[in-house]
Amino acid sequence: MSKNNTASGKGNNLDPWYGNYAARAAGLAASEVRALFAVASRPEVVSLAGGMPFVSALPKDLVIDAMNRVMEEQGPTALQYGSGQGVPLLREQILEVMALEGIKANVDDVVVTTGSQHALELVSKLFLDPGDVVLAEGPSYVTAVVIFKSYQAITEHVAMDDHGLIPESLREHIASNKAAGKRIKFLYTIPTFHNPAGVTLSWERRIEILQICRSEGILVLEDNPYGLLYFGEQPPSALRSLESEGVVYLGTFSKTLAPGFRVGWVLAPHAIREKLILANEAAVLCPSSFSQLVISEYLKTADWKGQIDTFRGVYRERKEAMLSALTEYLPDLTWTDPAGGFYVWVTLPDYLDSKQMLPRAVTELVAYTPGTAFFGNGDGRNNMRLSFCYPTPEAIRLGVRRLSTVVNAELDLLETFSATGPLSASGGRGSSEGPPPNLN
Ligand SMILES: Cc1ncc(COP(=O)(O)O)c(C=O)c1O
Repeated sequence: MSKNNTASGKGNNLDPWYGNYAARAAGLAASEVRALFAVASRPEVVSLAGGMPFVSALPKDLVIDAMNRVMEEQGPTALQYGSGQGVPLLREQILEVMALEGIKANVDDVVVTTGSQHALELVSKLFLDPGDVVLAEGPSYVTAVVIFKSYQAITEHVAMDDHGLIPESLREHIASNKAAGKRIKFLYTIPTFHNPAGVTLSWERRIEILQICRSEGILVLEDNPYGLLYFGEQPPSALRSLESEGVVYLGTFSKTLAPGFRVGWVLAPHAIREKLILANEAAVLCPSSFSQLVISEYLKTADWKGQIDTFRGVYRERKEAMLSALTEYLPDLTWTDPAGGFYVWVTLPDYLDSKQMLPRAVTELVAYTPGTAFFGNGDGRNNMRLSFCYPTPEAIRLGVRRLSTVVNAELDLLETFSATGPLSASGGRGSSEGPPPNLN
């Protein structure tokens, strides 16, 4: 068969079915960065790259107890197919979780999904046609951009600063798309403890952005995995607390409990919710009954709010370790100071390329995620995302120290080869125009 395919010119030596894929599969190419991460997962490498929650901070007895009770008391239900919308009791409990972020909702409007990642997939499936535009912060969550691309939509990045998405930039994008006759299907936003930027949308901007979207008829897709993981004061309430008809809200237990359960949810306006249930059934029949019942039991019997507080303490300490290591070892760079969540967004001098530097960093036994991964358009060359969620504070210090060796070697190299004297790093390593043209 493969011979026929190859002979008809559709396939190639590596993949005889190459010519048979749908056009949307073209967006699913593995990047070279992904290949490097396989190397970076070796134990001697300090990985500041992944966004894995530190699940060891969750006492395993709490999970074992909940699992045992579920199997003893509801075994056949836990092992059976369930409702496409999710377990009713868990949906009630999800209302309690969302209430912590100012959200009031009806239990009928909650749909449980296989992680919020699957919710992103379902919403995209419902709304995106080829050529549609999605507006998203620049940078944005990498795997959301991958999904939008797989539906052949175009992600346009709206500028952000330390206070989150910039309303004026949003207005400009809306106007230019309108002028070009393009359809904006939704604004995808992570307003709180942004992945990867680490910043939080201010209260004033929340109101302004909702007003813009309401008046322009643009749906808001609010993705909020990190909102409860604050280090000091509670962040502003979720966008969904201010607006119910124009916001589809995504939540998850991945960061406040554990991602292994693969349980997230969507809170959507009534009509959209109907379609989401049908799409959920078509994709997976139902989310895992077992996972949902275990989480429900955990929420019923364990001190889950206390556990979230424990996670906050762990991540606060790690963030502080990362920022103090950056201050000590890489004082010439700039970075964001997250008030919660998992990530710091670092800006290098604009003539450094974080993706090109990554193999050298891995050789020095440290890994990060290059900034270009978080843009659909090649921007972010001189940025990197550092995650402080998983490594210990000591490992974070070691990782940043190793990173400084790589960054400083790059800077020294460029200085050595510069014909015009010291180079301008944004942090003040000199004042010339940039790298010599033959170095990149
Ligand atoms: C912004 C954002 N959205 C969605 C997800 C997916 O989370 P889940 O485990 O709920 O699928 C992640 C995971 O890191 C994330 O950072």
